[in-house]
Amino acid sequence: MTSDVKKRIEELRQQLHAHGHRYYVLDDPVISDGEYDRLFQELLHLEAQYPESITADSPTQRVGGKPLKGFKTAEHIYPMLSLDNIFSRQGLLDFEEKLKRYLKGDTVLEYITEPKLDGLAVELVYENDRLVTGSTRGNGLIGEDVTEQLKTVPTIPLRLLATGEVAIPRQLIVRGEVFLPKKGFKQLNQRRKEEGLSLFANPRNAAAGSLRQLDPKVTAQRPLRFYAYSVATTEGVRCDTQFDLLAYLRSLGFAVSPLVCHCKSVDDVGGQFDLLVRKRHGLDYEIDGMVVKVNRFSLQQRFGNTARAPRWAVAWKFPAVQASTIIERVEFQVGRTGVVTPVAHLQPVEVDGAIVRRATLHNRDEVNKKDLRLHDTVLVQRAGDVIPEVVKAVVENRTGKEEAIVFPERCPECDGQLEQGVGEAAIRCTNLLCPAQKIQRLIYFAGKSGLDIEGLGKKHVEQLYSAGLIEDIADFFLLKKDQLILLDGWGEKSAQGVIQSIDKVKAPPLNTFIRALGIRYVGEVTAELIAGHYESLDELVQSKASELMAIEGIGPQVAESLVTFLRSEPFAKLLIKLDQAGVVVQSAGKSARPLDGRIFVFTGSLNHMTRNEAKQLVKSLGGKVVSSISGKVTDVVAGERAGGKLEKAQKLGLGLLAEEAFVGLIRNLQGR
Ligand code: IVH
Repeated sequence: MTSDVKKRIEELRQQLHAHGHRYYVLDDPVISDGEYDRLFQELLHLEAQYPESITADSPTQRVGGKPLKGFKTAEHIYPMLSLDNIFSRQGLLDFEEKLKRYLKGDTVLEYITEPKLDGLAVELVYENDRLVTGSTRGNGLIGEDVTEQLKTVPTIPLRLLATGEVAIPRQLIVRGEVFLPKKGFKQLNQRRKEEGLSLFANPRNAAAGSLRQLDPKVTAQRPLRFYAYSVATTEGVRCDTQFDLLAYLRSLGFAVSPLVCHCKSVDDVGGQFDLLVRKRHGLDYEIDGMVVKVNRFSLQQRFGNTARAPRWAVAWKFPAVQASTIIERVEFQVGRTGVVTPVAHLQPVEVDGAIVRRATLHNRDEVNKKDLRLHDTVLVQRAGDVIPEVVKAVVENRTGKEEAIVFPERCPECDGQLEQGVGEAAIRCTNLLCPAQKIQRLIYFAGKSGLDIEGLGKKHVEQLYSAGLIEDIADFFLLKKDQLILLDGWGEKSAQGVIQSIDKVKAPPLNTFIRALGIRYVGEVTAELIAGHYESLDELVQSKASELMAIEGIGPQVAESLVTFLRSEPFAKLLIKLDQAGVVVQSAGKSARPLDGRIFVFTGSLNHMTRNEAKQLVKSLGGKVVSSISGKVTDVVAGERAGGKLEKAQKLGLGLLAEEAFVGLIRNLQGR
């Protein structure tokens, strides 16, 4: 590696760190996503060429490294404490009074209020400005080492921003909360639903589940965020107050909650609490209260800590938004993948501004655990955007007339056999021809997660199904305008429109088609992975579970589910029918043009292939090849005895690839 290359690598890393910080932390990017990607790609190429240059704090390391065998433990040199809770203004007054008594004087106390983020506490250890360890709280003394997972969180700096103004101690231990924004939580659950996986109950569980993934690549796909709120020790940190500390952490590149407030009195604190209660639902993430901290560190030290919690801080919890109502009946719904879910129909009740009529009871284990019965008075709870849930039965209200919730022995829709997988809470109907599953699959196929057929929403699909016009997905393509016109609510124009939109999706890319089938465990990401590895649908249908498992990211469960589906008799029949209906699944989907937008120049002589072969390869993957160097070129492949072009490319700071790296890139993209 020449010193120029080394310099360029360092330059790229610095730029990427700074731009990443602007984008994720400050929400104020100064370059376009495309420009950022180009810098990132250039660094990736250089690192592929010079693997010895890769460092743990390189921005490329955020995508997630190798899966771990298990988590190591990580000790917290300074225990990670908990917080005492208060629930009212009186609680706050008591807190202050106790502090004042402790001081035995009339010192004026000032506070910092911060939102109490509902995620999980983590600790980040920085040595010489670099992130060396990241861990969960665990029992406060010993947690789990989740460094690789935390590195994938974009608001966690891998390297502290050096501003030059303030000194950074050799070791800095930063603490804060990792959380999943509501939107990310919804999307994650939606995807899990599509894949027939169990849903996370709330964003906190989802955040914890995402962080505790042995494979950091899975964590990298979850949009986790981090807000810093303290340091383990203020030793070496030149701040006198919590407020200064937060500003300092911000200057080092950490995201800090913008809802922090400096309060000069308990009255101010009370005002902030009211404000936060009002703001709470509009926030993109869950908070479950407000943390009140004494601002001055010298005072914090005088108050000290108990074994459990600091004396100088409390968590003022939001009142839980609950209401009581009655379970009128329980319905068992059969989903697309056959899962049978108990849904409680409730006497309508208002909870935190919304009328709640139904709540999922999840599964048999949940019903048993909470000992819920028909006609029970129950407490229902709505936490932010989370689906309403039944918290518990109000046992005192029981009259003796309550009845056990009886789970069906057979499928409530088709009378088919029900099955409970080993270690699974859900029961499912195993009949692939179950009408409830069929109709859900049809809705899914036409919907946004499927082929996205314009004008064919849930209601329409249900209508077509009950009119007997569609039985399976091939029937969509056999629909005639005249059949639609005769249905209630349809006219010439709408019928024509839908026939046209169906026509538009007759040649779906392979990944879209696989996804649209709604196979259990096979959502968007998995479908994309699979499509990238097969030339055609036929080839995929022929494949064995072992071949599928060779694809990174596909495990035995997914492979098994896919093979069972693709090899089933109904699917074989469906393929013939689709063919007859003129549906042609494209193998050259989006994933077949991964080099779209990239412009290559070749210089020097290649050993593995001729120049022409190389050009053909780039073109077949969607890239362009030109002969002269300019600022537009994104990749320069340098073979042996590369001359003037290489120099020019280096001067312009273009992405350079040695022949080996180029071959590796192509193989990678071809999925070989
Ligand atoms: S300070 C010693 N600040 O609340 C001080 N904690 O119930 C303890 N939390 O485990 C932490 N937001 O996970 C602090 N702004 C905030 C917080 C916060 C959320 C969590 C944290 C802690 C738990 C204590």
